[in-house]
Amino acid sequence: MKIYYSIPFLLIVTLQLCTSTFGSLAKPLNLPKKLPAEAFLSFDHYHKTCPDAESIISQKVAAWVKKDPTLAPAIIRLHFHDCTVRGCDASILLNYPRSERAAYASKTLRGFEVIDDIKAELEKRCPKAVSCADILTAATRDATILVGGPFWQVPFGRRDGRISLAKEAEMVPQGHENITALLEFFQARGLDILDLVTLSGAHTIGRSTCHSLMNRLYNFNGTRKPDPSLNFYYLNLLRRRCKGEMDLVYLDAITPRTFDTVYYTNLQRKVGLLSTDQLLFSDARTTQFVEAFATQPFLFESQFAVSMVKLGNVQVLTRPNEGEIRVNCNFVNRV
Ligand code: HEM
Ligand SMILES: *[C@@H]1O[C@H](CO)[C@@H](O)[C@H](O)[C@H]1NC(C)=O
Ligand SMILES: *[C@@H]1O[C@H](CO)[C@@H](O)[C@H](O)[C@H]1NC(C)=O
Repeated sequence: MKIYYSIPFLLIVTLQLCTSTFGSLAKPLNLPKKLPAEAFLSFDHYHKTCPDAESIISQKVAAWVKKDPTLAPAIIRLHFHDCTVRGCDASILLNYPRSERAAYASKTLRGFEVIDDIKAELEKRCPKAVSCADILTAATRDATILVGGPFWQVPFGRRDGRISLAKEAEMVPQGHENITALLEFFQARGLDILDLVTLSGAHTIGRSTCHSLMNRLYNFNGTRKPDPSLNFYYLNLLRRRCKGEMDLVYLDAITPRTFDTVYYTNLQRKVGLLSTDQLLFSDARTTQFVEAFATQPFLFESQFAVSMVKLGNVQVLTRPNEGEIRVNCNFVNRV
């Protein structure tokens, strides 16, 4: 297991807290009025209120993934869809008509039962203490380790949102976008071009429905020909596997269950499953990052840890007046 501590993150937070504490004693300084929300996340957030939270979460995730290994990628994808819609606030878990979870774009999301099970256990041990957003964030880190990925430390203190709208979930990229659209989507959430290429590397594990790539196989955007950026043998393999829209194919055809850099070497060989995967190699803005990760596994692993911490901090709710600690991840608390 490889360990990366987010030292830069810690330093920044500590510095900001110091300047604000001492700044208020001294004369008014020209400091920003408000700390960023993520400055209120901390590694010891549950040390008093639920010291075993992290180990309970990791034990539960391990047990579920042992029973069904496909849940590891499912949880990781759930976290991505949570964090990119209204931030990491567990809004994807809210379960009612017209919530994010009910969106068309959320149709193949899975793993909700894992989070529900963890939440039920945590409510027994430390009622109303641990947020659903923190559970999903930690479970994602644990799922990554279970498939052979890197470790990173998760700061805690996310609160759960009360708003969840299907139409916002439809904005999450579906695999047919161009790189400009992906970059804009990421940038709007404080994630940059390196985060885009790095986090796309999560497609080194897991599966997709054929629906998400069908247009590449026979009639690529109206040309009546397959996508020319598909390797000939891979195209034929996919045509055989994809008889129906709901059939499943591996995102990484070569090592589908291992967290490695084969996702990137696949792109160099025109063996990327989604159009958005393959474009990372052909677009001049992202090629260099693909090349770097394809040849330097350690670079990918360490950057993946860094980018995942960033993803987990997107638009978090951390102030007492924002959000709540949900009792059941499926519903907002009753007032
Ligand atoms: C960059 C833009 C992204 C696009 C366009 C995209 C698109 C997709 C699509 C279309 C699928 C298959 C859905 C289906 O048809 O069943 C998928 C699966 C998946 N995505 Fe992404 N994704 C993106 C970024 C990410 C990120 C940032 C992560 C996590 C860090 C992620 C993790 C996953 C995982 C693990 C799966 C497999 C899920 C499973 O096996 O159940 N994706 N993605
Ligand atoms: C990329 O996609 C966006 C949004 O769908 C579209 O407006 C734009 O024209 C596309 N750009 C290119 C270069 O195809
Ligand atoms: C089809 O896709 C290619 C590659 O992404 C793109 O260059 C082209 O503009 C697209 N054509 C249409 C009609 O959308």
